[in-house]
Amino acid sequence: ILCSDYPDRFVAVRKDSPLIIGLAKDANYIASDVTALVSHTRTVCYLDDMEIALVRRDGVQVYNLNKEPVQKETREIDWDVNAAEKGGYEHFMIKEIMEQPKVIRDTIHPRIRDGEVVLDDLQLDRAQLEQISRIVITACGSAYHTGVVAKYVLEELTRIPVEVDLASEFRYRRPIVDDHTLVIIISQSGETADTLAALKEAKRLGARVLSIVNVVGSSIANASDDVLYTWAGPEIAVATTKAYSAQLCVLYLFAIYAARTLGRLLDAEYAALIDELEALPEKIETMLQNKDEIQKLAEQFFSEKNVFFIGRNIDYASALEGSLKLKEISYIHSEAYAAGELKHGTISLIEEGRLVVALACQNELFDKLMSNVKEVKARGAIVFALAQEGNTAAANEADHVFYIPQVHRLFTASLSVVPLQLFGYYVAAANGCDIDKPRNLAKSVTVE
Ligand code: G6P
Repeated sequence: ILCSDYPDRFVAVRKDSPLIIGLAKDANYIASDVTALVSHTRTVCYLDDMEIALVRRDGVQVYNLNKEPVQKETREIDWDVNAAEKGGYEHFMIKEIMEQPKVIRDTIHPRIRDGEVVLDDLQLDRAQLEQISRIVITACGSAYHTGVVAKYVLEELTRIPVEVDLASEFRYRRPIVDDHTLVIIISQSGETADTLAALKEAKRLGARVLSIVNVVGSSIANASDDVLYTWAGPEIAVATTKAYSAQLCVLYLFAIYAARTLGRLLDAEYAALIDELEALPEKIETMLQNKDEIQKLAEQFFSEKNVFFIGRNIDYASALEGSLKLKEISYIHSEAYAAGELKHGTISLIEEGRLVVALACQNELFDKLMSNVKEVKARGAIVFALAQEGNTAAANEADHVFYIPQVHRLFTASLSVVPLQLFGYYVAAANGCDIDKPRNLAKSVTVE
């Protein structure tokens, strides 16, 4: 609120949507997201709902609704200011794609000590984990897609049933949740309105809430019983890439930790999973070195009107994310299907020259996926396949193949997503799209 009678101050009020005050020596700021503030100041203060701030150049006073002064704690944001600059890249999105090996290292390394997964920030101990009969994961957008991956990983390792739901659905469907349910909330910003509402509903129903969040001190982090942070740093491009990858890694760490704590992982398997996790950054680096290969393909297909992504199991979850990346920044219609569902409808949309991106990174399901590739090829599709190195048979069926390094089947999503992010990026670039700020989309969706 501004008033011309008081040109040296303004009043800011928080209700539901986030409001952050940035405190600096010669100016004070308000913003809805800390990323907007880091180039001005690192000292911030989060307003709670119904709080009022009187902001002047030389100071800020916060009041409650009764106009009583409230003492607020300040926090220092430890994000590197360079992370909010393009650093020579044409877009934040490609910079953030390239940062993924570092982000994954930063997220994983402090949590693996002497060959053990150590989640210091987690209060959930063995007794509490034993009480959990169900896990419900809820989130929006790409964060929801990491939840779809996590369902496969968590169920396989912990044998606890997992359900994944869009936060906007969960909040309005009278979910069956009680004090034996662990609700996992995933959010980069920690401020998404539907996700926050789903969290509050879960708490109201008595669930224990663990959130996986990138922004320290955000509303979702503050409202949760446990928080595991993704150390992705500020993400500027609207389409998430590095935060998505960091979320996956935190979910893997949690799944391994929970399975081990519950005594459901043998020593050798536990050690093998940890080794595989630690090897992910290097494998992603190798793929990023070959990004020109994807760029060439993208430049060949940039004028497509419809693209289909197919996969099975975790590849299906990655297909959902690959399809979203392409459509949100290039405005090309794309859809993701579980490959086994093709014959129940989608195959009628396959015609001469249609591009199908086939994810065949699950070695156990490789032959099944190749038979789906044959089906779409027989209808004239052009197929771009992703497969693990060594599965050279992919080249017999597909028109183009990008090989990802060999990886444990539970972690394939972390590798397969990289060429798909690059594909979306280069297709959008070839179309001259506003990649970092796609039309009609926002980075942080703080309203319903
Ligand atoms: C927006 C962003 C997406 C993100 C989604 C959920 O739609 O553009 O990249 O996945 O919100 O955001 P959150 O901050 O909760 O992860």
